[in-house]
Formats: sequence, C-alpha cells, structure tokens
Amino acid sequence: MGYQVALGFEDGTTRFITCEPAETVADASYKARINIPLDCRDGACGTCKSYCESGSYDGGDYIDEALTDDEAARGYCLPCQMTPHSDLVLRIPTTSAACKTGPATHTATVTAVDRHSPTTVGITLAVDDRAALGFLPGQYVNVGVPGTDGESRAYSFSTGPGQERVSFLVRVVEGGAMSTYLTERAQAGDRVTFTGPMGGFFLRELARPALLLAGGTGLAPLLSMLETLATAGSPPAHPVHLLYGVTTDQDLVHLETLADYAAVLPGFTFAHCVADGASNAANKGYVTALFGADELHDGDCDVYLCGPPAMVEAVRAHIDALGVEPAHFHYEKFTPAVAAADLVGAGR
Ligand code: FES
Repeated sequence: MGYQVALGFEDGTTRFITCEPAETVADASYKARINIPLDCRDGACGTCKSYCESGSYDGGDYIDEALTDDEAARGYCLPCQMTPHSDLVLRIPTTSAACKTGPATHTATVTAVDRHSPTTVGITLAVDDRAALGFLPGQYVNVGVPGTDGESRAYSFSTGPGQERVSFLVRVVEGGAMSTYLTERAQAGDRVTFTGPMGGFFLRELARPALLLAGGTGLAPLLSMLETLATAGSPPAHPVHLLYGVTTDQDLVHLETLADYAAVLPGFTFAHCVADGASNAANKGYVTALFGADELHDGDCDVYLCGPPAMVEAVRAHIDALGVEPAHFHYEKFTPAVAAADLVGAGR
C-alpha cells in the first residue's frame, strides 16, 4: 500500500502523489509527471532539498554538502533519497509551473444548497472522481461560478478530506457572482468545475495545544480540521479551543455542528461572539476579547486563524500586546466576493 504525499508549491498549488514504502519521493513524482527540481539524484548536490511539514520517513543516504545534520533536524529533506514511513506533506521550493504541473481540475454535481441564514449559504458537491481529489484540511479550491463567463471564487472546504461529499460556506454578498448564483439559480443537479487544492493554511500534526480562530465564513476550513481530528482514529493529543466571531446574529452558522464536535472530540471546546451590540449572544464584541495568555498556553500553542484582513491584523496586534508568541501562527485572509487570487494564505 502506498502513502499519500502532498507536494506543496510556492504558488500555492498542492499536488498529491502515491509513493510506495520502498520508493523515493522523487521517483514517485516522476511517475506522476511532476518534475520536482533534481540534478544528481544521488544525495550529493542538494538541488532537490525540500521541507517536510509533517510525516515520518527514512532520509536515505546523502552527504553533508547536500543536507547538513542541522537542516535534517529542522525538517529539511532530499526527495531523491527519502522514502516514506507515513503520509507526508512536503514544501517544494519552486512553482508548480516550473515542475510542469499545476492545480488539478475537478468536475462535480451540486447535491445540496443550504440557505443557513440570509447572509450565509452552504453548497455541497458530489465530485465525479472523488478518489482523484486529495486535499489537506484547511485548503481551498477555486470554484467556477455556473452560468458565468469563467468567473471563479475561492472557497475552503468545510468538510474533511475523508468525507465523500465536499461542502463550502459562502457569505452572501449583494451582487456577487457566486452569491447571485446561489441565492437565485442554484439547484441540485447543476454542474460545477473547480481547480485545486491550494494554499499553505492546513492543519499540521497536533504537537501542542491549538487555538482556532474563525471570522464569519472563515469557520469553513476550521470545520474541515475538526472533522479530520474527529476521524483520526485516536483522540487529539492536546486540547483544541475554537473561537468564532461574526458581525450579526444572522451570520452565526454551524453552532450545533461545533456542539456535536465538542461532544465527541475529547479536549475540544469552543465559544462564539457577535460584534453587533444588539445581539442575543452571551459574548458581544470580537474574538480578541475571548483569549489571553492562558488560552495561548503562554506560547506553547499553535494558532490557526481564518478571517477577513482586519481580523487577522487585530489578532496579530492583540497577540503582540499580550507579549506571548505562539509556536506557530498560521492564517488565511479572505475578502468576500473578490477574485480567487485575492484569497491569500500564509503562515509563520
Ligand atoms: Fe542532488 Fe537530490 S538531486 S541531492
């Protein structure tokens, strides 16, 4: 049985390949027609040097000039030598185009359109070749808007990679192409095309407590992460706390889904807040009012944040003011109803 290896490129594209236990990642890439950078193929030149985000492997044979012990200890690796012991996520230091590949295109059929509230719609798709679609929990795809001349929007999966159907959460924006489609025309049976997956915002191995922060429909990728944790086969090794902030009560969706995860996922807790002063919510205001140094475990914590740019900046400023630096700060900024290219994922 082969392992799944996710190759993440500098342009945000991720491609998944299958790598046998005795096969090098470079050979598996070559078989999949993905030309990752290679020269000596012998562990001597360092041309293929990449970074392993997660997973375990045998690093193979190489010389210090290609990869130092210090680099290997920090997670750098040589795909021409390494063989997997588990599924892997690698960061390849070049673009997908340079490797003669690009985001994959998938076709699907709409199976459900859920008008959760006047401001938020969910859409669920049955992908024609589900087995060919791999993604990491938290990643997004560019979805073509049916009935338009090639318009597309970026949406993060709200479902986990192991679920047969894939779903997305869409914020309804007056006049927006996808919003207009979803509120006026969408129905089960419609055909949809999307490309991806994309992005560096995805759940890493849970090596320490995690704080998940969602703004509005930024909840979607965090739901995908929770689904992954809930179906991992063993309980999370560390506590996970989620804070979900929205503008008005109408924007609140999936609270019952979060409650369901809290019931089945040991160590998972959550709270929500609404900025609108007229809200019925117990917590009024912003997520920054709901966490301090304790929730950041005094820095021994990985933060995952998905929300609009103003929220990302507010959270950054709040963490800086607390004087507590989390071990990792992964974030995804989005701007509703703008072109796919405006959804920017990053991390530090
Ligand atoms: Fe030379 Fe991998 S290609 S070290």
